[in-house]
Amino acid sequence: AAEIDALLSSHISEHPDFPIPGVLFRDITPLLRDPVALRTVIRHWATLLPEGVEYLVGTEARGFVLGAPLAYEIGAGFIPVRKAGKLPGAPAGLTYDLEYGSARIEIPQDSFPAGARVLLVDDLLATGGTAAATLELTRRFDVEVLGATFLIELAALRGRDRLAGTALSTVWRIEG
Ligand code: PRP
Ligand code: MG
Repeated sequence: AAEIDALLSSHISEHPDFPIPGVLFRDITPLLRDPVALRTVIRHWATLLPEGVEYLVGTEARGFVLGAPLAYEIGAGFIPVRKAGKLPGAPAGLTYDLEYGSARIEIPQDSFPAGARVLLVDDLLATGGTAAATLELTRRFDVEVLGATFLIELAALRGRDRLAGTALSTVWRIEG
C-alpha cells in the first residue's frame, strides 16, 4: 500500500557508506521508536502472511525486534536463531559466508515441535545470505517451512533468486 510505503520511507533512515564504502545502510530505529508507526506497520505486515503459521523464526538481532511483535500479532510463537556463542549445551549451528568474512548462527536442538509450520522473518532481504542460512538450519529439523517474510527487500541484490523455491512476502520492495 502506498501509505505504508510512505510510512516506511519516512521512518527508515539512510546512511551512505556504512558499514563499508558503497553500502547504503538503512536504519529501522526511527520506526521502532514511533509507537503509531510501529503498530501500523506490524498490523499491515500481518495481513501479508500465509495462513496457518504456528511459529515465526527470526535471526538475531533485527529479526528478533520485528519478529516477536509480528508473531504476537498473528497469534504465533517466536523461535529465536542466535549468533554464535550465546547458547549453552550443544546447539545446532551453521556457518555461512558473508560478502566479507563469515558468520555462524545457532539454535537449541529442541527448538521446534515435530511438524511445526514455520515462517522465516527478518527486517531485510539483501543478498539473501542470512535468510538462506537460517532456512537451511531450520530445514534440518522436522518442520514445514511455509515461506519467508521481510520488512524491506533490496531487489537489486537478488536475494529473491537465492531463495528460489521459498514463498516470499515483503512489505517494502526497493528497486535499484
Ligand atoms: C542484516 C539484516 C539481515 C541481513 C540481510 O543483519 O538484519 O539479517 O543483514 O542481509 P543479507 O540478505 O545480505 O544476508 P546483520 O547480521 O547485519 O545485523 P543485525 O544483527 O543487526 O540483524
Ligand atoms: Mg540481521
